[in-house]
Amino acid sequence: MPEKKVKEKDTEEELLSAAKNLDGQFKEHSVAEFFKKNKQMLGLYGKVRTLTMVVHEYVTNSLDACEETGILPNIDVKIDELGEEYYEVTVTDNGPGISQENVGKAFGKLLAGTKFHRMMQSRGQQGIGAAGCTMLSQMTTGKASKVITGRGNGKAISLELTIDPKMNEPKITNLKELEKEFKGTAIQAKFKGTLYRDSDQGPLEYLRRTAIANPHAQLSFRDPSGQKFIFKRSHNQNPERPEEIKPHPKGTTVDDILSYCKTSKGRTVATFLSNDFDRMGAKGIDEVKKRVRFDMNKDPKTLNWEESEEIIKAFKAIDFIAPSTDALRPIGEDQIRKSLQSIVQPEFLTVLTRKPAVYAGGYPFQVEIAIAYGGNAGKKAGEQTQMEIMRFANRVPLLFDAGNCALTKAIQTIDWKRYDIKDPETAPVTVFVNFISVHIPYTGAGKQAIADEEEVLEEIRLALMQTGRKAGIYIAHKRREAENQQKREMFYKYIPEICKAFSAITKSNESEMRKNMEKLVLQKLKLEEAKDAEEKARVDKVLKEDDNSFITKPKAEKAKETKEKGK
Ligand SMILES: Nc1ncnc2c1ncn2[C@@H]1O[C@H](COP(=O)(O)OP(=O)(O)OP(=O)(O)O)[C@@H](O)[C@H]1O
Ligand SMILES: [Mg+2]
Repeated sequence: MPEKKVKEKDTEEELLSAAKNLDGQFKEHSVAEFFKKNKQMLGLYGKVRTLTMVVHEYVTNSLDACEETGILPNIDVKIDELGEEYYEVTVTDNGPGISQENVGKAFGKLLAGTKFHRMMQSRGQQGIGAAGCTMLSQMTTGKASKVITGRGNGKAISLELTIDPKMNEPKITNLKELEKEFKGTAIQAKFKGTLYRDSDQGPLEYLRRTAIANPHAQLSFRDPSGQKFIFKRSHNQNPERPEEIKPHPKGTTVDDILSYCKTSKGRTVATFLSNDFDRMGAKGIDEVKKRVRFDMNKDPKTLNWEESEEIIKAFKAIDFIAPSTDALRPIGEDQIRKSLQSIVQPEFLTVLTRKPAVYAGGYPFQVEIAIAYGGNAGKKAGEQTQMEIMRFANRVPLLFDAGNCALTKAIQTIDWKRYDIKDPETAPVTVFVNFISVHIPYTGAGKQAIADEEEVLEEIRLALMQTGRKAGIYIAHKRREAENQQKREMFYKYIPEICKAFSAITKSNESEMRKNMEKLVLQKLKLEEAKDAEEKARVDKVLKEDDNSFITKPKAEKAKETKEKGK
């Protein structure tokens, strides 16, 4: 092969011109332009996934807005097919509405919203979900998104909007006052390159799971074929309004200190620390004072990087009381039970809400687990029923990126055989996990997987082991019952054949032998039945002592019972 000539050195002049050329290419871009190019980071990729993610963004916003303002949510979702791989999504809520001043930013500016800057349990936290959908809609169809919003105390407004990606600002057109009154928000947007599927990761499954984790919400859905679904609320009260908490010193970084100090009302570093942080009493301030070299009476706005580093070093060395966990709002064992009983209808169910804990030193969190067995529990995969994992973060179903999520990883580390689940691939079991926190450590802006925080993994494992033990008692009992039944059937099936063969060999009376054999088997079975009844009583007793485990009588037994009563 002829050797390729390599140019060893550019001339000085050429190098300079290349550098100038590079300078000329230097440009600034907005966050909107960034996400326009990287929409996959928002989870907006894949034909089916995109449509589910859009529904997710709008529905979580509606639920957050309703709960924060004490309104029992009624949310209506419609998906219409407009053409090939072309759909329109409409979500209407009965929430507080959005002011004319903020509505453009809410749906037309990335990184804008009411949730990012606070430590409070909510579904949304970044301020990009709704505007991300507006941008995807305009990118794939060239069309604007439509919004109607009102507060029920005057005229509602309707408008159309797109985002100017260069400026990351909304462009509003057709702003009108409506004649009729309307309370809530309706958003309608079109998307091309998407596909509606009634699958594990489709919008219907997303809404079904949303209903399970939000028994106070009423959800209705019309799919593209016109089929309607209603998930009625099973609880008539909103969860207690989530509270905002201050950041805990142990979960704070140098960079956080520098950004918090800019907006603090504290006039000295000492008052800034005591006003703006959780668990920072006079003792804490004294401890920090002993450990830093600058004057704690200085204006916090003048703190520099090195001084903030000193504060963080001091925070690390001091023992603070763990962050307050009052702000957490779990679903609660009773509500989870009602939801799963009505939607999954299992034969056996055990539920557990663990006590709050703290991850990364500064973020309170709590884990809720339920294990459902039998009935409609599990996931159908052809002829088989597999273990189904339902992951939730702050009551939001997580349908994607399961392999990358701490919740799945914790479930996979459990040795299910210990709980009589020999193979999760063939078990009619649903495992429900809800992780709640004032800050969910998502692995990406698409918010579908939770990072492997050590404390989180451990808490989930403990909760799974606790609930697994109870489920195991029931499952083992059911297995033994089935095995015994099988044994009985086998005895009766083979007695005639065995007797026939034996009588032929021994030349004895076949019917006599059969009678004796049946007597013997009956005796043995009676003994076993007595043992079974004893075992059943033991299992019932163990599970009855536990407030959180429930056995739903199988349908056949129920029917028999009613018939007997009717006699
Ligand atoms: N249906 C609604 N009712 C009332 N306010 C809403 C509604 N939808 C959106 N908003 C407002 O618009 C803001 C922006 O919504 P967006 O979904 O972009 O961000 P977010 O919910 O704050 O965070 P995330 O990006 O994690 O979803 C919200 O913070 C909220 O203040
Ligand atoms: Mg949102």
